[in-house]
Amino acid sequence: MKPIISPSILAADFGNLARDIEMLNRSEADWIHIDIMDGVFVPNISFGFPVLKPVARIARKPLDVHLMIVQPEKFIPEVKALGAYIMNVHYEACPHLHRVVQQIREAGMLPAVTLNPATPVALLRDIIREVHMVLLMGVNPGFGGQKFIGHTVEKVRELKALIQETGSQALIEIDGGVNTETGARLLEAGADVLVAGSAVFSSPHPEQAIVSLKNL
Ligand code: DX5
Ligand code: ZN
Repeated sequence: MKPIISPSILAADFGNLARDIEMLNRSEADWIHIDIMDGVFVPNISFGFPVLKPVARIARKPLDVHLMIVQPEKFIPEVKALGAYIMNVHYEACPHLHRVVQQIREAGMLPAVTLNPATPVALLRDIIREVHMVLLMGVNPGFGGQKFIGHTVEKVRELKALIQETGSQALIEIDGGVNTETGARLLEAGADVLVAGSAVFSSPHPEQAIVSLKNL
């Protein structure tokens, strides 16, 4: 089966955001990945809801929203108002993760949980059947264009085994350092969804870069 491709607009040209979203609308991208940062959970700030509202109005693909913020549950109504399809929250930002996952579902979105590179997959055992997707970071979150942490491939294998063992239906998404080389290794290990920022937007032919990831 072909992978789901979710280009991250963190790497788009913010001076030409509408143009870049239209490119994604035309492309073979399946979803649009949106990285929200707060300068507290991660050492960077990206964009907030005033910027994302017009983005969501133009976008014609499901929105895969990744919150790199503390207390993400505070913003469930705002993320829902964008029309988000999936809301990703970090395991490390949610002491009451089970409650947050239920709240995301009750709001009418699909819940996903994200793990930083140093957070073990085994910690998901008691939540894995409740989530639509697990997002494994391939870099430390906060910035695009970083080098892929190779150990992530082993984490994909471990997560796949946990999903099969527990009868979970969760998809496996990878974010950070994904390109055609790392993407091929991740898919071979069992990943279902690839997020790509710089591999798409730093390419001279972004639409073709999406096709190359889709055909891995
Ligand atoms: C990192 C973000 C990623 C980022 C990926 O904190 O969550 O989505 O945009 O960028 P690349 O693909 O360039 O590593
Ligand atoms: Zn992301």
